[in-house]
Amino acid sequence: MSVPAVLVLGALAKSASAAVASTFTAPAAAPTDTSPFYVGASNGTIQNTPLVPGAVFDRFIQIWLENTDYAQAASQAVFQNLSTQGILLSSYYGVTHTSEPNYLAAGGGDFWGLYNDVLEYIPTNISTVVDLLEQKSISWAEYQENMPSDGYGGFNYTNSDNYTYYVRKHNPLVIYNSVGLNSTRAARIRNFNDFAVDLGNNTIPQWVFVTPNLRNDGHDTSVAFAAQWLQYWLIPLLQDPNFNTPRTLILLTFDENETYALNNQVYSILLGGGIPPNLKNTTDDTFYTHYSTISTVEANWNLGNLGRQDTNKTVANVFEYVANVTGYKNNGLTGKSKLPFLNITTTIPGPLNPQYYVPYLAPNTSGTGGGNGMTFVASGTNLTLNASDAPAPVNLTANSTMTTSGAIGGFIQADLLVSVIGAVFAGALLL
Ligand SMILES: *[C@@H]1O[C@H](CO)[C@@H](O)[C@H](O)[C@H]1NC(C)=O
Ligand SMILES: *[C@@H]1O[C@H](CO)[C@@H](O)[C@H](O)[C@H]1NC(C)=O
Ligand SMILES: *[C@@H]1O[C@H](CO)[C@@H](O)[C@H](O)[C@H]1NC(C)=O
Ligand SMILES: *[C@@H]1O[C@H](CO)[C@@H](O)[C@H](O)[C@H]1NC(C)=O
Ligand SMILES: *[C@@H]1O[C@H](CO)[C@@H](O)[C@H](O)[C@H]1NC(C)=O
Ligand SMILES: *[C@@H]1O[C@H](CO)[C@@H](O)[C@H](O)[C@H]1NC(C)=O
Ligand SMILES: *[C@@H]1O[C@H](CO)[C@@H](O)[C@H](O)[C@H]1NC(C)=O
Ligand SMILES: *[C@@H]1O[C@H](CO)[C@@H](O)[C@H](O)[C@H]1NC(C)=O
Ligand SMILES: *[C@@H]1O[C@H](CO)[C@@H](O)[C@H](O)[C@H]1NC(C)=O
Ligand SMILES: *[C@@H]1O[C@H](CO)[C@@H](O)[C@H](O)[C@H]1NC(C)=O
Ligand SMILES: *[C@@H]1O[C@H](CO)[C@@H](O)[C@H](O)[C@H]1NC(C)=O
Ligand SMILES: *[C@@H]1O[C@H](CO)[C@@H](O)[C@H](O)[C@H]1NC(C)=O
Repeated sequence: MSVPAVLVLGALAKSASAAVASTFTAPAAAPTDTSPFYVGASNGTIQNTPLVPGAVFDRFIQIWLENTDYAQAASQAVFQNLSTQGILLSSYYGVTHTSEPNYLAAGGGDFWGLYNDVLEYIPTNISTVVDLLEQKSISWAEYQENMPSDGYGGFNYTNSDNYTYYVRKHNPLVIYNSVGLNSTRAARIRNFNDFAVDLGNNTIPQWVFVTPNLRNDGHDTSVAFAAQWLQYWLIPLLQDPNFNTPRTLILLTFDENETYALNNQVYSILLGGGIPPNLKNTTDDTFYTHYSTISTVEANWNLGNLGRQDTNKTVANVFEYVANVTGYKNNGLTGKSKLPFLNITTTIPGPLNPQYYVPYLAPNTSGTGGGNGMTFVASGTNLTLNASDAPAPVNLTANSTMTTSGAIGGFIQADLLVSVIGAVFAGALLL
């Protein structure tokens, strides 16, 4: 364990919220070191299934930063320098506002109508990218900075300095009960001390989601502060063969654009040893969204699909250099005026929309994803409750409180009770 060091990295950050000091403080000498600041001790080295080669890459690492408009990120030297080492994705979009629904989209292929950051538990029979990966024995993990213990289910965590660094709303998979409430799977949602140990033992899995804490991801600070964290954490790791192999693809992105009145474009870069040399320092104008992270993984490992927005050809283009190898046909959408609006909130119906409700529907089993595999159908799924038979969305705003089940098929489990408003429709919802 190393003594924390303060890195002074260029100009002081211009803080958006000024909640905290704007100078980044490194938690350790290097990201390869554990730190008491990360709270939980390491839980030992992660155990992985043998490597499963993909068509284009063997490891996919996503790193999500927070709430930044495209132009702000593009003005930072760190992002400019990184873009010369990879492919700048000039038409990548968040899928809605606020944060939590964007993270849910990357985990399960939908955001279920959610438009806030409240405590949610998504029913066990709603599947995620983990189901697809595990079908092919592809190892995976999340690394959540300042999450106190592996698989921690709490809403947030406050360090001994009384600052809340970790939030569940930025942890996509823990919110899905099929992961968060399954102890085997939840143990793969790990903290940054585990990351240091997994890195040291060269056991970083094949699918990885990285969430820096609320300061380092720019949420409570600014994009300039997040850039300082990248300088400490990502820049050296790009040179670390236990992190960035010649077959590694890294996506650096943001959950959402800060200005709701504009469509939801976020600055995103593809990086890593897996980027073909002739594509480094290039720009890809293809229209991508957070759903592209799922469809690209499906294409690379020829997985099944979730039958959600990962199979929606409008919003799930596969990263082009991958699509070109696997033969996936992208939709050719370009030009801001032709793109769908992905800044819409409150009016998209769903089981997590408290005023405009439809129940969880069955996945679309006739959908095709990035790969050729079948739609994953979790046990306990009523396939009859599909989009064509769905009850019309119900505007519940003015009605009284009731409780209903969120599960497809309508059976009630303690872990998936959600409160919605609108007793009139109890019959349709309680099934
Ligand atoms: C490898 O993992 C073990 C625990 O499983 C840990 O004690 C050791 O420090 C790790 N090695 C490195 C280099 O991190
Ligand atoms: C280690 O993992 C177990 C479950 O596998 C969990 O209960 C425990 O809290 C973890 N400890 C830490 C420090 O993460
Ligand atoms: C953390 O959670 C508590 C309730 O569990 C809440 O009162 C508080 O506002 C939360 N803080 C943050 C920063 O999310
Ligand atoms: C944290 O808050 C508690 C309770 O308000 C207080 O007793 C303690 O001194 C605070 N610690 C720090 C490091 O500010
Ligand atoms: C929990 O996850 C493990 C590992 O993915 C899986 O084998 C097991 O079936 C899951 N358990 C349940 C009850 O879903
Ligand atoms: C979404 O963005 C478009 C284009 O910038 C804008 O016209 C529209 O008002 C925005 N919608 C919302 C709900 O903010
Ligand atoms: C937010 O995204 C839109 C693209 O939809 C972009 O035109 C705009 O510049 C971004 N906002 C700012 C303030 O940069
Ligand atoms: C990246 O490309 C630009 C031209 O588009 C060029 O000016 C610059 O030198 C290149 N940088 C690197 C590091 O290759
Ligand atoms: C596909 O995505 C577009 C753009 O968000 C949306 O308008 C359309 O309803 C989606 N289709 C389905 C079947 O969900
Ligand atoms: C993908 O293939 C198309 C058509 O052959 C080509 O124009 C494009 O440059 C390729 N893109 C990449 C990133 O390789
Ligand atoms: C639901 O009804 C309320 C109150 O009448 C209205 O303000 C709101 O716009 C409606 N929501 C939708 C999504 O139609
Ligand atoms: C499955 O859903 C359909 C359509 O909502 C419903 O009629 C049927 O009773 C459900 N079956 C079960 C076993 O819940």
